[in-house]
Amino acid sequence: MRKNIVAGNWKMNNDLKATRKLVKQIRKSIKKAELDNTRVIVAPTFVNLATAVKRAKKSKLEVAAQNMHQATNGAFTGEISADMLKSVGVKTVILGHSERRAYFGETDAILAEKVDAALSNKLEVIFCFGEELADRKTGKEETVVGSQIEKALFHLEADAYKKIVLAYEPVWAIGTGETASPEQAQDMHAFIRKTLADKYGNEVADSVSILYGGSVKPANAKEIFSKPDVDGGLIGGAALNSKDFYAIVSAF
Ligand code: PGA
Repeated sequence: MRKNIVAGNWKMNNDLKATRKLVKQIRKSIKKAELDNTRVIVAPTFVNLATAVKRAKKSKLEVAAQNMHQATNGAFTGEISADMLKSVGVKTVILGHSERRAYFGETDAILAEKVDAALSNKLEVIFCFGEELADRKTGKEETVVGSQIEKALFHLEADAYKKIVLAYEPVWAIGTGETASPEQAQDMHAFIRKTLADKYGNEVADSVSILYGGSVKPANAKEIFSKPDVDGGLIGGAALNSKDFYAIVSAF
């Protein structure tokens, strides 16, 4: 059965001290929670990953990176490889976030390479995609999302999906306070699952967790997560506060 996942994307927030504090708070808050089928993940900045991994040890909290370079090593000033992430104990990496696509020029082709590099290093991938407001206004959201998935992931063998989590994040809902309605999220998630089923069959499609991201808050998490094809959330703003984050985790 596929897992529910609540993942906090801290983006460029939290210095070392704040990272220690927030990891400690989240670790404590989830200690007694019934998390049989729910994974809880946080994604701090690169420089704080090693500390977060250490502080999350022997707890139910997992640590992911927010990005990764596709090359193994070499002359790529300022970049971080899959191997480096692994060496500090990271097992999951977020790829394709809309901010990476918009501000750092990450294309579907680059993302396909990043996905390959992560998987060949046995890292799990949380792969993000989503349409912009103009796409939705013109009824192109499914075309855009279908194409993002196809271009970055459809070269993979079915087996690779054991290490892939999908995160649908409509760009117009990220950090805006505006959320897709639970129905909009469900419709898109069902479309995503069908897209996977058409290519790989029902078994693969049913096994992949599909997260929703975009202004998920304690107040709306329960309703969004109650939809059958929504298997959790990728949380930005609300993941920076341990109480809000835990309230979202508890929405399951
Ligand atoms: P948000 O961010 O929850 O602040 O909208 C979500 C994300 O970017 O993953």
